[in-house]
Amino acid sequence: MSSAGGAQPPPVATTSALQNDTLLRALRCEPTDYTPVWLMRQAGRYLPEYNATRQRAGSFLKLCTDPQLATEVTLQPLERFPLDAAILFSDILTVPDAMGLGLYFADGEGPRFERPLAHEGAIAALKPPDPGRLAYVFDAVAQIKRALAGKVPLLGFAGSPFTLACYMIEGGGSADFANVRKMLYSRPDLLHRVLAVNAEAIASYLALQIANGVDAVMIFDTWGGLLAADAFAEFSLAYVEAVIARLRAGVGSATPVISYTKGGGTWLEGIARCGCDAVGIDWSTDIGAARRRVGARVAVQGNLDPAALLATPVAVEARARAILDAAGPEPGHVFNLGHGILPSTPPENVAALVACVHAESRAARARPGAGPASPRR
Ligand code: CP3
Repeated sequence: MSSAGGAQPPPVATTSALQNDTLLRALRCEPTDYTPVWLMRQAGRYLPEYNATRQRAGSFLKLCTDPQLATEVTLQPLERFPLDAAILFSDILTVPDAMGLGLYFADGEGPRFERPLAHEGAIAALKPPDPGRLAYVFDAVAQIKRALAGKVPLLGFAGSPFTLACYMIEGGGSADFANVRKMLYSRPDLLHRVLAVNAEAIASYLALQIANGVDAVMIFDTWGGLLAADAFAEFSLAYVEAVIARLRAGVGSATPVISYTKGGGTWLEGIARCGCDAVGIDWSTDIGAARRRVGARVAVQGNLDPAALLATPVAVEARARAILDAAGPEPGHVFNLGHGILPSTPPENVAALVACVHAESRAARARPGAGPASPRR
């Protein structure tokens, strides 16, 4: 049975109907009984059941474009582990695909575009996509919300305007995105035009995810860390701020927003002022220092090195405890990895991590001297 029109808000459970709203409370820096945990790329190749579904579907993109399959893989990690959130199964590159760039995944390679922004004419012609071309995403959101039945919140997401521009201009992944950085210095006007179009597209895209039921959204700025400090402010952060401002003016006025910049550790104060509720950090920053730097009104999400999950369950637990200790028991920490889970991760290590985060953070709140869990000022 297919769902009704993607852009229409369906009758879904609201935030207040959630059985577990720990994540949303933590994102708002409200007291929680324990530290909520979810993992970037929690549905993915480290799970045999994901690989089986992908095999049956034929491709990763088929999983993204078929709401039934997207629902199935979104729920897989929740069936194994008591995670505190589900994240929509999709990809950040669906948006440039809908702008006509032609996304494909060549075997054994990362994502590529058939029609990258290779010349000035392509940039001049770029415009935000018709939302109908992304209806499969909004349909997946509505279907996943129904399947979750209020068990845990559903996170939506998008790439940042800059990170999308990296792929759109380069035509695929790259170690250094040298073409984008060359454009930044040689034709900043062209890069600004791409970023302005992307910001408009992403704001509309996230607004429609929210209208269809997501409870919080995350903006992935995976490549912002490549930039010089002033360039980061001008070409990445300013456009994330524009996306959030548009959301705040509409349907996303009260929806928690997480802003994640890989390699953004030196700019946390600035990122915390972009209008987000939470800052996502990688593993290069001490989380205790990060929490002091973003201040008590903004939550911090992270920061386990994904490679730690390749070790033994005992080693995983030791790292989890170290992060919980450094973060402290005050409201406003969401446990996560510093980047996506690696495909070679043993699922039993994920089980150990989730159990440890829940148990240790509950115990820390009960410890004498921890004080009542009150919002930090
Ligand atoms: O976190 C989740 O579980 C939700 C799903 C999700 C995917 N991609 C699924 C995916 C999310 C949130 C993303 C975001 C994404 N996609 C980012 C930002 C976060 C990050 O990882 O830095 C980026 C840069 C992309 C673009 C992208 N998609 C790349 C570079 C790749 C190839 C790299 C790889 O891991 O193979 C993808 C493919 C992709 N996206 C996979 C998944 C599960 C692997 C596809 C497969 O099954 O082969």
